Amino acid sequence: MDRKDRIRNAYRLTGCNSFYDGMITCSTFLGRMVCRLVWDMDVEDCAEYQARALSGIPEGFTGKLLEVPVGTGVLTVPLYQAMPDAEIVCLDYSPDMMAQAQKKAERMELENIAFHQGDVGALPFEDESFDIVLSLNGFHAFPDKEAAYRETFRVLKSGGTFCGCFYVAGSCKRTDRIIRYVYQPMKFFAPPYETMDSLKERLNHMYEHVELSNVKGIACFICRK
Ligand SMILES: C[S@@+](CC[C@H](N)C(=O)[O-])C[C@H]1O[C@@H](n2cnc3c(N)ncnc32)[C@H](O)[C@@H]1O
Repeated sequence: MDRKDRIRNAYRLTGCNSFYDGMITCSTFLGRMVCRLVWDMDVEDCAEYQARALSGIPEGFTGKLLEVPVGTGVLTVPLYQAMPDAEIVCLDYSPDMMAQAQKKAERMELENIAFHQGDVGALPFEDESFDIVLSLNGFHAFPDKEAAYRETFRVLKSGGTFCGCFYVAGSCKRTDRIIRYVYQPMKFFAPPYETMDSLKERLNHMYEHVELSNVKGIACFICRK
C-alpha cells in the first residue's frame, strides 16, 4: 500500500462523520474535548482561525474557486450557499470524505459545485484557471507538499488569491507531541511540517503579497499571486 492509499484508508476510518464535523467545528462534546486536548483551543479559537482563513473570499464572490481538500465540506459547503453565482470546484483524495460534502451540497440543493476525486499534487486543471484557491487543514496531510504548493500556484490566476490554514509545528508543544505520536502514525498527518518562519519564507518567495498569522498551532494565510 503506498503513502496515498494509507492516507485514504486513514480518512475512511473516520466513518460517516458527525465525529469529524463536530471536531472541526468544535460543536460536540467529543469535538470540544479533542480541540482542547490536541490543539489547546476552545470554540472561539476554532472560529477565529476559520474566519481568518476564509476571509480571503470576498463577500458575494462570483468567480471561479477551487477548494482542495474539501473533506466533508463541513466548513465550506454552508458558505457556498451564499455564492450562487460562483463556479466552485472541490477536490479531495478520499471519496468517503468527499461523498459527505456532496451529500451536504445535495441537501442544500447547490448546483454550482463540481466534485473531483484526485491528488492535489497532480491537479487536473489548466494553468491559471481559478480566481481563488482555498485550502483548509490540508497541507499537513498532503504527502508531497512541494507538489501541492506547485500545483495550487500553477492553477491560480495571476492576481488571484491563495488562502486557507493548516498545522504548523513549533507554536504549541502539546499539539506537536500529539501529532508526532498519534496523528502521524495514524496517517492523518504527514511530515515534514512547516513552522511559522518557514511558511513565511516560502509564501513570501512565491506570492506578491502575503498575510500570515496563527491561532496557536494553526497558521492562517491570504496570499495574492
Ligand atoms: C483534515 S482533512 C481537511 C478537510 C477539510 N478541508 C476540513 O477542513 O475539514 C484533510 C483532507 O486531505 C485529504 N487529502 C490528503 N492527501 C491528499 C491529496 N494528496 N490530495 C487531495 N486530498 C488529500 C484527505 O482525504 C482529507 O479529506
